[in-house]
Amino acid sequence: MVTVSLERLRSRIETLARFGALPGGGVTRPCWSPPHEEARAWLLGELRGAGLEAWVDPAGNVFGGTGARGFRPDAPVVLTGSHIDTVPEGGILDGALGVLAGLEALQTIRERGIPHRRPLAVAAWSDEEGRYGSLFGSRAFCGTLDPALIPRLAAADGERLVDAMARAGFDAARAPEARAPAGAVAAYLELHIEQGPRLEEAGIPIGVVETIVGVRRARVVFHGQADHAGTTPMERRRDAFLAAADFALRAREHVVTRGSGVSVANVGAVHVHPGVSNIVPGRAELVHEMRDPDAGVLERLAAECAALARDVARARRITVEVQPMSATAPAPCSPRVQARIEEACATLGVKWQRLYSAAGHDAQNLAAVTDAGMVFIPSRGGRSHRVDEMSDWDAIERGAGVLLQTLLALAR
Ligand code: GLV
Ligand code: MN
Ligand code: MN
Repeated sequence: MVTVSLERLRSRIETLARFGALPGGGVTRPCWSPPHEEARAWLLGELRGAGLEAWVDPAGNVFGGTGARGFRPDAPVVLTGSHIDTVPEGGILDGALGVLAGLEALQTIRERGIPHRRPLAVAAWSDEEGRYGSLFGSRAFCGTLDPALIPRLAAADGERLVDAMARAGFDAARAPEARAPAGAVAAYLELHIEQGPRLEEAGIPIGVVETIVGVRRARVVFHGQADHAGTTPMERRRDAFLAAADFALRAREHVVTRGSGVSVANVGAVHVHPGVSNIVPGRAELVHEMRDPDAGVLERLAAECAALARDVARARRITVEVQPMSATAPAPCSPRVQARIEEACATLGVKWQRLYSAAGHDAQNLAAVTDAGMVFIPSRGGRSHRVDEMSDWDAIERGAGVLLQTLLALAR
């Protein structure tokens, strides 16, 4: 049976990890940043060196194809991929694994001359981590990027997408041109680390993803009153930060006790204004994120948390604005793709279990335009979005093997 080269895959994973590497391990490689653009140039070189056709679309998505250059409905492509951008202080596998294992699978197929009826391609989707807008590149590719929104997309630190893309040599206004024609993708399959503890704790080497969670984000802005932090009596203060803190605690409790049981919530970005120790905060903003595999649960929780924010503000004699930022719908994976993955596992003699993805992925955009699926491998200690994110190399080899066999089955 044809197998991938773990040596080559490992060497590429370790090389990609050098772009944006941090002194203590891990990577900071946000999309469009200088290390990301250096990584993009390196990846294009690797794709071409592997004998693949390589190209970049107007949304900054990188592709490498065998038997394919571009997307045409008369020659639907079996597509794999993931992303090469990372969160700040992230790990070396989130995204990188799926792109480089995809490249390894395609290179192996090409070198061995393994016949495949459909063309194959690997993608590196831009800004998966959503520094400027969630799942940006795959959204453009799947035709759901609203052109009117592009000028307003900005990072948490205020940097605008149009400026970041211009610096990297791209025109953000042209990103919607990345949309692929209907019917141009025969199937999409993404290999990823699980990023949580379920597979490792179950002792199961492969996860077959059934559904990908929906993610909702809202900016919650509390407006209080700035005051002298020394002279204003405590009972007269209308402190916007305390309202934000109160909301964060109560919203967490609400999601845990009134969610589905697997609902999660996070407040990972907070800004206090003016932000000095001798002024009572006049304004506090936070981003409230919630995830659940059930769209109805998310919808209900979003309405309940908005009401909770208003209750907190009223009780503290201040005002609040709840601004919805993004809502990615939960996406079921294709039963056909799941079946092919499970057949590949059976052929390779590897145990698998079905599970839902608790993280967001480009596959959820692809699921709206084609049969999409995902393969997970265990993450050591369930750790991800941190510098010590890792998986065992034999787990990586196994995952790449399942990817290769499944891609061949889909392209047959
Ligand atoms: C992507 O990594 C996410 O936030 O789920
Ligand atoms: Mn990822
Ligand atoms: Mn991630």
